[in-house]
Amino acid sequence: MRAVVVERYGVPPVVKEVPEPEVAAGGVVLAVEATGLCRSDWHGWMGHDPDIVLPHVPGHELAGTIAAIGDGVEGWQVGDRVTTPFICACGTCEQCLSGNQQVCPNQLQPGFNYWGSFAEYVAVPYAAVNLVRLPDVLDFGTAAGLGCRFATSFRAIRQVGRVGAGERVVIFGCGGVGLSAVMIAAALGAEVIAVDTNPDALKLAHEYGASHTLQASSSTVDQIRDLGGAHVTMDALGSGDIVQQALHALRPRGRHLQVGLLPSGVQLDVGRLIGQELEWRGSHGMPAHAYPGMLELVASGNLKPADLISRTITLDETPVALAALSHGTPAGVTVIRPTG
Ligand SMILES: NC(=O)c1ccc[n+]([C@@H]2O[C@H](COP(=O)([O-])OP(=O)(O)OC[C@H]3O[C@@H](n4cnc5c(N)ncnc54)[C@H](O)[C@@H]3O)[C@@H](O)[C@H]2O)c1
Ligand SMILES: [Zn+2]
Ligand SMILES: [Zn+2]
Repeated sequence: MRAVVVERYGVPPVVKEVPEPEVAAGGVVLAVEATGLCRSDWHGWMGHDPDIVLPHVPGHELAGTIAAIGDGVEGWQVGDRVTTPFICACGTCEQCLSGNQQVCPNQLQPGFNYWGSFAEYVAVPYAAVNLVRLPDVLDFGTAAGLGCRFATSFRAIRQVGRVGAGERVVIFGCGGVGLSAVMIAAALGAEVIAVDTNPDALKLAHEYGASHTLQASSSTVDQIRDLGGAHVTMDALGSGDIVQQALHALRPRGRHLQVGLLPSGVQLDVGRLIGQELEWRGSHGMPAHAYPGMLELVASGNLKPADLISRTITLDETPVALAALSHGTPAGVTVIRPTG
């Protein structure tokens, strides 16, 4: 099969023929119909993820059809349209049994622990736990985003952040994660403030429901405070600066959601956390069992992840698009069609 292969960290990958994945007991192999380009793929390519072994095929935000079914998998047929959370959980550990598959210690992540979906085929382990059936109305491009960024923001905003109507929510960084969060928080009735360096991303944030858009600057915190301060902040980029801004933009007892990755760590003013009784919450993906609630809101038109897709590219165009993330993010979500 054809795949995007990273041979050295930070050096543009190549597109070449590699062996197709084998189907394992309990798992399936999917023909990849669409796969999103997420900044986590860029982190992996840069060498920020110790799980990655070179040569490596990135890609974890995927949708496709079942091409092969392993021994012991029941209830699925070749040709079924599916997606999967990027965190493929084991289903049998203590965390999985408590419904917290997003922190399963035995998790496998396509595009990180093993070869991912920037390819014609990808394996999905533990099919019984991780496959999500796609409603017919949902096209593959839109569904791909549900495997990572849209689902991650859905859980972060709704469940982890407990965002309610009338609350002021500040989203720092309006790429795939951030624009999804803007759309989801606005649908919950929150007053959304979007912050980004890219005016085109802010334009989209406004379209998706942000009532205020702020060009990131040294006065961002003051501007947020002038609007009354934030009940909830989200770092949807992964930046030490944003973390500091968020902590100072929050109202007393505010909640901060950390979704952006911080490979170099960050220093936190714990005194401020204590004195203001702030919550600092990490949020990681969303387990498959939580998808039906999100898919209902998509099917009813309350959430429109399809609107977030701004460009569709081929496998051959992917190496350049991945490397270009070192210099910024084009506004909106990029989807790759491996057979397109
Ligand atoms: N926790 C999880 O489960 C999870 C899931 C998906 C992605 N992530 C991580 O979330 C982060 C965002 O991913 P993405 O794919 O949406 O990224 P992205 O590159 O699409 O978006 C980042 C946005 O931040 C903006 N930006 C850059 N500098 C800024 C600044 N100083 N202030 C405000 N905005 C700024 C960019 O213009 C861009 O719009 C990454 O770190 C990614 O690895 C985490
Ligand atoms: Zn991702
Ligand atoms: Zn588990």
